Amino acid sequence: MSMKGIVLAGGSGTRLHPVTLGTSKQLLPVYDKPMIYYPLTVLMLAGIRDILIISTPEDLPQFRRLLGDGGSLGLRFSYAEQPRPEGIAQAFLIADVWLAGQPCALVLGDNLIFGEHLSGLFRAAAERPEGATVFAYQVRDPERYGVVLFNEAGQPDDIVEKPTVAPSPWAVTGLYFYDARVTEFARAVRPSARGELEITDLNRMYLEEGSLQVERLGRGCAWLDAGTPDSLLQAASFVQTIQSRQGMLVGCPEEVAYRMGYIDASSLHGHARRLGKTELGRLLKDVASGLHA
Ligand code: DAU
Repeated sequence: MSMKGIVLAGGSGTRLHPVTLGTSKQLLPVYDKPMIYYPLTVLMLAGIRDILIISTPEDLPQFRRLLGDGGSLGLRFSYAEQPRPEGIAQAFLIADVWLAGQPCALVLGDNLIFGEHLSGLFRAAAERPEGATVFAYQVRDPERYGVVLFNEAGQPDDIVEKPTVAPSPWAVTGLYFYDARVTEFARAVRPSARGELEITDLNRMYLEEGSLQVERLGRGCAWLDAGTPDSLLQAASFVQTIQSRQGMLVGCPEEVAYRMGYIDASSLHGHARRLGKTELGRLLKDVASGLHA
């Protein structure tokens, strides 16, 4: 069974008002690319090619316009509406028919995860036949997130959503890998006090049956969510710093498609040409010409 992937790109982006009154948060630029490119490339690096993009009925047409059917990247994109933001775990209820009982990864459309050796970790998570895999990252403000508590053996003991007092500094990132039972589990999630189907409750179900694997991301990794003006600016500076210093691209689907062997060098040259005289186009051309490791 090959794993499918979902990018959840709905919500109302209230923490970015008034910017998001007129457009979707996940279409805003993070430096030189639309925000959704970053989570999308994470799924691609995990080896996932069949991808469902979920957004609001108002914003979905713009995502279609941006991404098309994925064919030019050797991918297959499908689209589905989430009429109201009723929780992250609802993604699996919306995707139920499309999933057709396959295992599935979910990534939040505003998450940027970057670092050496991550592709290997993502691939391993996608290939695990049973259970769920999530990633934890140490932050200074864990109470803003899902938080995982580890026991002395380093195993996850508990997972809680936005606790008043965080039991540990380990925040759960917005990238989740699940086995084929995920829709069944999602159907058992009940709305929380804030009225949402919480992804943390779904994760807790796997935790309780002992099949939740939590991978800790270390110093060499960056995890950013771009949901506020400050975090958006931080994410943009991060991408700009890496790209201008190293000449390496962060979150570029065309490059990843090439490196994964989904498209060849001449097709990558075509993509680079379509980007015209942009710096991104130039960097992509270098990749197509083999100028980068
Ligand atoms: O970023 C990681 C965190 O994401 C996790 O640590 C938390 O456990 C998880 O609940 C979530 O927390 P957030 O506070 O970031 O959730 P938020 O409601 O902001 O939703 C995250 C993204 O998902 C947001 O960009 C909008 C989108 N979304 C959210 C909901 C609830 C949807 O598209 N539909 C929804 O129904």
